[in-house]
Amino acid sequence: MKVTIDGQEIDVEPGTTILQAARMIGGESVPPAMCYYSKLEGSGGKCRACLVEVSKGSEADPRPMPKMMPSCKTNVMDGMEVKSITSERALDARKAVTEFLLINHPLDCPVCDQAGECDLQNLSFEHGKGASRYIEPKRTFAPEDIGDNIQLHMNRCILCYRCVMVADQLTDGRCHGVINRGEHAQISTYIKKAITNDFSGNMIDVCPVGALTDKTFRFKSRVWFNKPMNAYRDCDKCAGKVTLWMFGNEIQRVTGRKDEYHEVDEFICNTCRFDKKEVNDWVIEGPRKFEKDSVINQNNYTSVMEDVVIKTEKQILLGREQDRKKISMKDIPLDNTENK
Ligand code: SF4
Ligand code: FES
Repeated sequence: MKVTIDGQEIDVEPGTTILQAARMIGGESVPPAMCYYSKLEGSGGKCRACLVEVSKGSEADPRPMPKMMPSCKTNVMDGMEVKSITSERALDARKAVTEFLLINHPLDCPVCDQAGECDLQNLSFEHGKGASRYIEPKRTFAPEDIGDNIQLHMNRCILCYRCVMVADQLTDGRCHGVINRGEHAQISTYIKKAITNDFSGNMIDVCPVGALTDKTFRFKSRVWFNKPMNAYRDCDKCAGKVTLWMFGNEIQRVTGRKDEYHEVDEFICNTCRFDKKEVNDWVIEGPRKFEKDSVINQNNYTSVMEDVVIKTEKQILLGREQDRKKISMKDIPLDNTENK
């Protein structure tokens, strides 16, 4: 069946969702996804970040769909026309969803291990507002220890359910989930258990925010100071294909290899992730590349850096008198109108 997304036509199999069709086309028309994960069955439909406008339902019934549709859960129909990046309404809806997700999410990126590879940071960068309209206190939770491998920061969780699906679909016996509902919903173990089952480390990779992070990597480095390397080992539990995050010759972290949508190609076992931190454990293939605008490229060592010569005059460093006044802000009252 044929579907047109932002004027680009593509033929897809019946049962394909709008999001999958958009990913086949690629580029800017691909809606953001905070809960959908192609490798997890039944994922999606939780966050509403992927909303699109369906301007023509199908060839048989060309009426537009009145509401924004979650592209990860809406199957394409023959002759359907969809607006993603070209729809003002869809962009407004994504802005609203971003604002909604940030109501309770702490702005602690400077101390969060997910910074630099966080889907919510990226979403906020693309669709976020400069200021918040909320004055209410954010949700807080009593810290909960969920074992030696994974650190839970519940206040950062956006309840996407991806980690619950990993536990259901990959591990042997799920012992955590979303308990309570509505404003009280939270990720927790039942009751006070440690998450240690094999393949549970994949929860860290699928978590779109810093709610589940690797305890063995915690506060060791910022991701952009690490050198990500593709590596493999002969493993009897998983494919053994990973990304090593190195600082000099030290392996600080091991993760699955992620694609352009930040989804792992293949899930890896806990032994590869947490126990193999010696260089001799791995065959290193070479540097892993990231999308052009990723902050991880800040420490890019795959291309030769050009020498930069900065020529300055003394006056430039000193600045103009009127600018210095502005920077000191002594004479300029703080404009707080945006926050009101
Ligand atoms: S902990 Fe992470 S993966 Fe699990 S529901 Fe919360 S945001 Fe999603
Ligand atoms: S990605 Fe579609 S609702 Fe979350």
